[in-house]
Amino acid sequence: MNPSKRKFPVFTAIAGLAGAVFIVLVLAGKITWFSTEPPLEFNPNMDHQFKAIPQSGNTFFSDRKSVREPVEGTVARGQDVYPLQQGDLDQAEVLNVNPGVPRTDFVLARGQNRFNVFCSPCHNYNGQGESKVTTRGQWAGIPNLMRDETKALSDARLYHIISAGQNLMPSYADKIKPIDRWAIVYYLRSMQGIEGTASAPVAGADTTTNGN
Ligand code: HEC
Repeated sequence: MNPSKRKFPVFTAIAGLAGAVFIVLVLAGKITWFSTEPPLEFNPNMDHQFKAIPQSGNTFFSDRKSVREPVEGTVARGQDVYPLQQGDLDQAEVLNVNPGVPRTDFVLARGQNRFNVFCSPCHNYNGQGESKVTTRGQWAGIPNLMRDETKALSDARLYHIISAGQNLMPSYADKIKPIDRWAIVYYLRSMQGIEGTASAPVAGADTTTNGN
C-alpha cells in the first residue's frame, strides 16, 4: 500500500479519546456506580449463608459460641507437647535435659528478648517483681526471681516451671518453643549472676534448628 494514501484514523482517534476521558473521569471519581438502593440479590443463598461467623454469637450450639474448642486431646501438627504436669517434679529433674543449646551471646540475647516479651509483665525486666501487674495492685505473690530460693532451683526445674507453670503462673509450653525456653533459662541464670549451669552442650547436637 502507498503510505501517502493512508487516511488519518478518525474513528479510532475519537473512540480512543472518548475512552481516555472516560477512564480519567472514573479515576477522578466523577463517574461512580454507588447507589443507596438495597442491592439486588440474585442468589440469596450466597448472601445469607448458614455458617458460623468467627467472634459472633451463634444459636446453633448450646453454648452460643461460633468458635469451637478443639476436640479434647487434639494435638496440632508439629506442636510440642510438654509431657509433665506441675507436680511431676522428680520426673522434671530427669527428663528436662538441655538438648545442647550453647551459652552464646546470641542465645543470651534471645533469652532476654523472650523473657522481656513473656515474663516481664509479671516478673519485671530485672526479674525482681515490681512489674506493671504488681505495682498496680492486681497480682500479689509474684516472687523475686533473684532470691536465693529461686537461685537454688535446678535448670531442669526452671525449664519445668516455664513449661508447666507453677500455681498461679500459667504454662508457657504452647507459647515458647523448647529451644527458647532453654535460652530463657540461660538468661535468667545470667541475671542471677550464675554462670550457665545448663548442661554442657551435647557434642554434635544440631542447635540451629532443634526441629523448630
Ligand atoms: C502472669 C504472671 C506471670 C508470668 C507472665 C510469668 N510468671 Fe513466673 N511466676 C508467677 C507467679 C504468680 C509465680 C509464683 C507461683 C507460686 O505461687 O508458686 C511465679 C513463679 C515463677 C518461678 C518460681 C520462683 C520460685 O522461687 O518459686 C519462676 C522460676 C518463674 N516464675 C519464671 C518465669 C519465667 C521464666 C516466665 C516467662 C517465661 C514467667 N515466670 C512468667 C507469675 C508469672
